Amino acid sequence: MQQYDAYAAAYDRSGQLRFSILMDVYLRDLLRSHAVPGWTMVDLACGTGTLALLMAERGWTVLGLDNSPAMLAQAEQKRATLNKPVAVQFGQADMRDFALATPVDLVTCCFDTLNYLTAEAELACCLAAVARALVPQGLFCFDLATDYFLRHYWQGVEFEEFDGYSQVMHSHYDAATGCSTLVLTGFTATASGSYQRFREVHVERAYPDVVVRQLLAQAGLVVEAVYDCFTLQPPNERSLRLMYVARRRPPDE
Ligand SMILES: C[S@@+](CC[C@H](N)C(=O)[O-])C[C@H]1O[C@@H](n2cnc3c(N)ncnc32)[C@H](O)[C@@H]1O
Repeated sequence: MQQYDAYAAAYDRSGQLRFSILMDVYLRDLLRSHAVPGWTMVDLACGTGTLALLMAERGWTVLGLDNSPAMLAQAEQKRATLNKPVAVQFGQADMRDFALATPVDLVTCCFDTLNYLTAEAELACCLAAVARALVPQGLFCFDLATDYFLRHYWQGVEFEEFDGYSQVMHSHYDAATGCSTLVLTGFTATASGSYQRFREVHVERAYPDVVVRQLLAQAGLVVEAVYDCFTLQPPNERSLRLMYVARRRPPDE
């Protein structure tokens, strides 16, 4: 079973939806200081589509891309519940190797998603694909969980209970690889009153800032700012998550 196959149906109600709501508010602030040439965007690894739909409600023309059919199905369902038409399309793509027919003004990639690329070469491929997907001067905004976060927060065992769904998260940080492995065991209530169990393994890697900057530069993306995520302050040694804002270099530079 692939990551997010079974978890997709529980993703929003296990509290993950909140992140996109906060990110939408944060991006509004961020884009006031970092101008974008137009109103077209891709939300890369859009998951259940919350951020894509919120951005579309604010006037963006959005393409949400993800490689999980189950997450995309949730996104389509969510769109169907809106009672007004919004300019959103969802499609399946791998963020390490995607191409657009027409480049866009903004690409976002949120909620640890680039941490899922555990090989530097994969991150480099993704950044190159993003650069190709942007118009000159287009903006790429993405967050990355820090080593501090994976080391101190993706550790130990947590149990959480929600309406009709419970989960056990067992995580372990490996200092040798800089990766954290999370074993997620979910229990979804069925109509008959029993629970259906699933298990998924999620691995995230933290990248040092110097490596991220090097890979961005190689891809032709110029770092405009790095923030302690959800603030407009610079990162500090206890930052849990960083927000990178990078602009596509004009072709003649
Ligand atoms: C932590 S979730 C974040 C989802 C969404 N961005 C959000 O903020 O809720 C990570 C997402 O990345 C997607 N994903 C992981 N690897 C991917 C890849 N190689 N290409 C495209 N999507 C990928 C997963 O399917 C999942 O939807």
